[in-house]
Amino acid sequence: MKTQVGIIGAGPSGLLLSQLLHQEGIETVVLERRSRDYVLGRIRAGVLEQGFVNLMRKAGVGDRMDREGEVHKGFDIAHGNNRHRIDLEDLTGGDTVMVYGQTELTRDLYEARDRMGGIVIHDAEDVTPHGLETDTPFLTYRKGDDIETVTCDYIIGCDGFHGVSRKSIPKDRLTLYERVYPFGWLGVLSRTPPVSEELIYARHERGFALCSLRSRTLSRYYVQCPLGDTIEDWSDDRFWEELKSRLPDTVAETLVTGPSIEKSIAPLRSFVCEPMRWGRLFLAGDAAHIVPPTGAKGLNSAASDIYYLFHALLAQYRKDDPSGLDGYSDRALARIWKAQRFSWWMTNLLHRFPDRSGFDARMQETDLDYLFSSRSAMASLAENYVGLPF
Ligand code: APR
Ligand code: PHB
Repeated sequence: MKTQVGIIGAGPSGLLLSQLLHQEGIETVVLERRSRDYVLGRIRAGVLEQGFVNLMRKAGVGDRMDREGEVHKGFDIAHGNNRHRIDLEDLTGGDTVMVYGQTELTRDLYEARDRMGGIVIHDAEDVTPHGLETDTPFLTYRKGDDIETVTCDYIIGCDGFHGVSRKSIPKDRLTLYERVYPFGWLGVLSRTPPVSEELIYARHERGFALCSLRSRTLSRYYVQCPLGDTIEDWSDDRFWEELKSRLPDTVAETLVTGPSIEKSIAPLRSFVCEPMRWGRLFLAGDAAHIVPPTGAKGLNSAASDIYYLFHALLAQYRKDDPSGLDGYSDRALARIWKAQRFSWWMTNLLHRFPDRSGFDARMQETDLDYLFSSRSAMASLAENYVGLPF
């Protein structure tokens, strides 16, 4: 098979790039290791920055998001029994975020790819990039007993943190930056009305908690949990009790509980790979960077990579101008590091660190105290939460 841009991974990054390029007449082939059902079964975050929302619309996949997604003009930070609203709209001069699940967004992208006849090959095993330092890179993959080849001009690694792309770059050409946090997030999805119309991030002596939502009837809640815990340790009853204990009384009293539809534990990690390019291979999204979920920057960081890559590839194909591709890594990383800083800061602000000193605890309290006493501090939080410009 021959195409212009070979994409590894059919998560939101790979699908969105393929959709944007196809609209401009640039051919792509997407190779995905898993089945479509598997990809669509993953429950991930659901807060979209304005830049991402605009990119979805540009890609012609914004209709259902605009109909069913919820515009959020603020969110709450609770600590103990106190609750403060961060008025995003007021603090940023009009910016908001969109609450729309990644699962829904991925479904919309798949449907758009189907409508345009986009090529997405599922259950592609042993996907391997070759000839990355030549002008004729190609991908191989296995389907059953057959080895298939896709030749292309560029290869884009959108295959997430555990993918093959980053690992194809010689180790001595990469610098990896990483912080692993000493706790995880236990998440529960339940068909219950959300406890609050807006998100509540809660700091508590027992640990962090988050009240989020997918719709008026579907709630998503999280509690910070020890690293070694498994979901077998957490019955629904135990989860609801723990969540309630970390929320202000007035919130806990109105929380509607119900059976969990999905329950999972995710570790928290900050990770950046530099550079994001090797020869004809370009990394995007989780393949190149991971943030802890506090602040919802994971999916949004992928969006800015895709925006830069799309414009860079367009300039290359339309005007024979390689400057966007040459500058991609530096440009993407400049924004990525800011999202990293914000996610790291918000994680530090709101979680209970098992090894914290008395000094650390005071610093955390003072950070919160300062935040709510200073409009500038809240404005800085709001500016980052709605998303820095692409
Ligand atoms: N070959 C082919 N496909 C692969 C391979 C491989 N070796 N390894 C992984 N994949 C696929 C995965 O099955 C997955 O569908 O690549 C896809 C990567 O998708 P995501 O992990 O969703 O990453 P990305 O598209 O960059 O999305 C950004 O933001 O909110 C965060 O982690 C969240 O998924 C989200 C991410
Ligand atoms: C979610 O709804 O899953 C969610 C929302 C906000 C976050 C993280 C996760 O910061």
